[in-house]
Amino acid sequence: VVSAVGVGTAFAVGIGNAPAVDTVGAVEFDTPLAIPELLEPVIAPDGTKVFALDARAGSTAFIDGLETPTWGFNGTYLGPTLRATQNDRVRIDVTNGLDVTTSVHWHGMRLSGEMDGGVHQPVDPGGTWSPQWTIDQEAATLWYHPHPHGATEDHVRRGLAGLFLIDDALSAGLPLPSEYGVDDIPVIVQDVALDAETGALGQRDGGSSGHLGDEILVNGTLAPYLAVATDVVRLRLVNASTARVYAFGFDDGRAFSHIATDGGLLPAPRETESLRLSPGERAEILVRMRAGETTVLRSEDPDLGGVLPVFGGGNGGSDRFDVLELRAADDLASRGTIPPVLAPREPLDAADAVMTREWVLDGTEINGQAMSMERVDAVVQRGTIERWRVRNDMPYPHNFHVHGVHFEVTRYGGEAPPAAVAGPKDTLYLPPGVEVEMVLRFEHADASHPLMLHCHLLRHEDAGMMAQFLVVEPGSDTEITTLPPDAT
Ligand code: C2O
Ligand code: CU
Repeated sequence: VVSAVGVGTAFAVGIGNAPAVDTVGAVEFDTPLAIPELLEPVIAPDGTKVFALDARAGSTAFIDGLETPTWGFNGTYLGPTLRATQNDRVRIDVTNGLDVTTSVHWHGMRLSGEMDGGVHQPVDPGGTWSPQWTIDQEAATLWYHPHPHGATEDHVRRGLAGLFLIDDALSAGLPLPSEYGVDDIPVIVQDVALDAETGALGQRDGGSSGHLGDEILVNGTLAPYLAVATDVVRLRLVNASTARVYAFGFDDGRAFSHIATDGGLLPAPRETESLRLSPGERAEILVRMRAGETTVLRSEDPDLGGVLPVFGGGNGGSDRFDVLELRAADDLASRGTIPPVLAPREPLDAADAVMTREWVLDGTEINGQAMSMERVDAVVQRGTIERWRVRNDMPYPHNFHVHGVHFEVTRYGGEAPPAAVAGPKDTLYLPPGVEVEMVLRFEHADASHPLMLHCHLLRHEDAGMMAQFLVVEPGSDTEITTLPPDAT
């Protein structure tokens, strides 16, 4: 069934092809959660931290006795965690050991277009790409993943993704759990469809959204549990799924402290029982544990904002998953109290916006056009603040991600933004029919290499729901409509 409102054929699929999934109570948490290795940089003579990532194909045993063909960085599935501090100079040597062209994008990093790793920085098989930049942002949980034009979904779902953690002086001074893999835990959530006989990663049709799996991997672990030894544990939640929206909470309904969004720490912790994350979004939460207890991180009924059932699946809005079991030891080390103040900051002032732009997501297009590698969709000036209005004109979910810059949401569906999306962000859920308003300040000029904005439901991105913009020095030409010839 193809919808009547011009949904592109790339993802126009029928009604409810994927039956609802419910794994609540059905997961036997029998595998210790894998923790991605922290990659040690080599320090160059000038102090640059040099990391090496090597994309390769291999196989991974998610299910005992079955080898699933997968891709990974420096391993067979996912990649190591990179970690750097504000003002560090970093260089990443990305080598492509696959037999297809890929790229690596630093999702959430504030940098110039040439270092961004989007569609204009392909790495051919056997090639190495070595972007370098100075970390110019506050402590945050970022991630990296491929971004080859038209094939992002495929490369990410095969396993190419990893974390990039940023620290700063403020975060280092706060009494937050910060021992990586001990009380500060990466939680990379992906929904997969594993063939029970062969172990192969399959595709499960999620209607208009793309692939919606029926099992959850956390850090590449199926049915994971985490042994907790402290009375407060910090989870860095990353929705690295290709299309699925989650609403995370705990099986006993306990409240937890939401301490950071995509762009970093909130001004103060926010108590909540549920947190919705769409693909690409991150959140850091603190969970209080009592000795000897267990609790299960779960995803239940993300409020998708009134999805019409005719559009198929509604992004799995009724699907429920058990995600990760936390098992507290009988003796827990105390992490003290949760600091009442985290990272107060001055919000951008919308009154300073030099202009307003509109981005309308419709069909597989933005503003009526599919992504073109040559076309420049906007030119913005470094140092200026703009107001962007972004609207989902479809009756099913999208989201919105901008490269190289953060935004602050000022209006959401005609109202003040919910607390869950406060602070600097780079990815935002867009409910059906909803318009959001945001302000952005552009900081890294590069007149030849554009940055992307797109839907992070990866099949939509691949189908063309993406546009690109240049950040130019103030006073220079803003009438550019095509890329300079050296852009790729
Ligand atoms: Cu996480 Cu343009 O991507
Ligand atoms: Cu979309």
